[in-house]
Amino acid sequence: MPEILLGDKTYACADGESVLEALTRGGESVPSSCRSGVCQTCLLRAVDGQVPEASQKGLKDTLRARGYFLACQCVPHQSMRVEHPGTDAGRLVATVRAITPLNREIVSVALECPGMGDYRAGQFINVFKDERLSRSYSLASAPALDPHLTLHVRKVSQGRVSGWIHESLQVGDQVAVSRPLGECFYMLSDPDQPLLLLGTGSGLAPLYGILRDALRQGHRGPIRLYHGSRHKDGLYLVDELRALAYRHATVHYHPCVSREAPTGDLRHGRVLDVALNDQPRVAGWRTFLCGHPDMVQSAKKRLYLAGAALKDIYADAFIRSAA
Ligand SMILES: Cc1cc2nc3c(=O)[nH]c(=O)nc-3n(C[C@H](O)[C@H](O)[C@H](O)COP(=O)(O)OP(=O)(O)OC[C@H]3O[C@@H](n4cnc5c(N)ncnc54)[C@H](O)[C@@H]3O)c2cc1C
Ligand code: FES
Repeated sequence: MPEILLGDKTYACADGESVLEALTRGGESVPSSCRSGVCQTCLLRAVDGQVPEASQKGLKDTLRARGYFLACQCVPHQSMRVEHPGTDAGRLVATVRAITPLNREIVSVALECPGMGDYRAGQFINVFKDERLSRSYSLASAPALDPHLTLHVRKVSQGRVSGWIHESLQVGDQVAVSRPLGECFYMLSDPDQPLLLLGTGSGLAPLYGILRDALRQGHRGPIRLYHGSRHKDGLYLVDELRALAYRHATVHYHPCVSREAPTGDLRHGRVLDVALNDQPRVAGWRTFLCGHPDMVQSAKKRLYLAGAALKDIYADAFIRSAA
């Protein structure tokens, strides 16, 4: 049975168990969030022992080369000595510049982070409440358009990090954040390709950044954005998006509600159903899917069946933390 050595302690790793599970079971506090290899919160560094390749998937080459790996994805075949990552693994300091309500459960948080450097609209960052507890939030800002990084944070009942952001975080506070992560962003590979953007709840955040970034980069093809919520008061940035669609003939914005009768330009139904009703075939489209994991999972399947190529499906499921 492989053993995990951390500091002066040794933890046995049961058959098929990940390093994260073994350490957590042994009472060690390791930050984690998605437990699916997405958020990179559980980053550790191996100082001795072989690192399974699968546990380095998605990491930068520079991190791989120095033995960093994702503890939630690491099922070791042999014993390893590991350590917590140093600050060089990517933690930065950001200052809160504004907190603005977007609707009754979502706030926009503007962060100034001089060390962030390049990022892409639609990527996400991890926000640390303290040394061990962090959550991922998508970037609604676009680097060339917005002075600050912007997040849209929905308050989850009993939520440790979203509750802290809503109730305690103040303008002027400093918070630790990760470098930008994720592959759900726009690139100007084919400016005429039609784009389909589907999001639920605060899943609008990355889409808002991607949409504006695509226009800024000169995207010419049609862009159809479907944003869904159960009720009208769960939608937000409605006027801004209507104005954007008014200014750009290629942009089509469809706010959708699934649990109440629609009024005005609101559409009735779930975003995926409404979008596929409008476009039953999406061969040749590039699609971006963000928000509730069930929506993202089912949209991937149904868009593929409707003709979208797998390489053209970009997604960020807002996976809940298991920790
Ligand atoms: C790549 C990625 C990007 C993300 N981007 C965003 C974003 O832009 N905006 C945003 O608001 N969130 C986003 N999330 C979700 C976010 O990371 C947190 O999961 C969320 O804020 C809840 O964390 P918490 O600590 O407040 O709740 P926790 O303390 O983890 O959970 C408290 C309780 O609430 C439940 N719970 C957790 N999440 C939800 C939920 N969504 N709905 C209902 N119950 C829930 C838990 O099961 C638990 O019982 C993203 C997640 C990922 C993986
Ligand atoms: S990548 Fe391991 S907890 Fe998210």
